[in-house]
Amino acid sequence: MNLTLKVWRQDGPEATGHMDTHALGGVSPDMSFLEMMDMLNDQIIRAGEEPVAFDHDCREGICGMCSMFINGEAHGPGRGVTTCQLHMRSFNDGDTIAIEPWRAQAFPVIKDLTVDRSAFDRVIQAGGYISVNTSGNTIDANAIPVPKEQADDAFSAATCIGCGACVASCKNASAMLFVSAKVSQFALLPQGQPERESRVQRMVEQMDKEGFGNCTNTGACAVECPKGIDLSNIARMNRDFMSATVKSKK
Ligand code: SF4
Ligand code: FES
Repeated sequence: MNLTLKVWRQDGPEATGHMDTHALGGVSPDMSFLEMMDMLNDQIIRAGEEPVAFDHDCREGICGMCSMFINGEAHGPGRGVTTCQLHMRSFNDGDTIAIEPWRAQAFPVIKDLTVDRSAFDRVIQAGGYISVNTSGNTIDANAIPVPKEQADDAFSAATCIGCGACVASCKNASAMLFVSAKVSQFALLPQGQPERESRVQRMVEQMDKEGFGNCTNTGACAVECPKGIDLSNIARMNRDFMSATVKSKK
């Protein structure tokens, strides 16, 4: 395949960015999108220029690092796949492909296609955990019965890989799908009940502090989410947040 690639280049957070155009030939339809990017960087390095900076790690859809906005869609045209799982057979010979970083105030560009997603880490640090008594009286998690339906929903919420596609796809740059998945994975389990109210309050407060926008129920996040995180998680988080806020004001 012969492709024309329009790639966002930006030297640093304060620099002005621009699209660079590259012609790339000999691309196999069986290559992953990231292998195609490696091929592009080989070509750029051989020309004595600086390669395109982009994030990647596992290359198998589990780490959430490969954040690219491809032809106007987070993780490109595929559904239920991350950029690293996208294959070049999703494109046609002669295509022009635009490749940009996630764009959101809370995800500043570090360089080229790499953005700073540490805002997500701070939301998790604010409450995305269960405190465990390690005094010797800890109850074995397996000894606590969990209804099958709740266990399934908790596992589904826990598949969120923190990639940030939901934020990048939302016109408000809202992080509600991500935060609600992280809230729900505990809110659905008995182990998550003792801190359920304080957890949702602290995580939502941190989400707002980081500068993410509000949810206006457009649902683009769920369409582009590579893990199929359901919008019902947002409804659960809103209910929990309202209830916790009302109780804390009594
Ligand atoms: S909710 Fe989906 S799109 Fe958002 S961070 Fe999690 S896996 Fe990525
Ligand atoms: S590189 Fe890990 S999910 Fe894509």
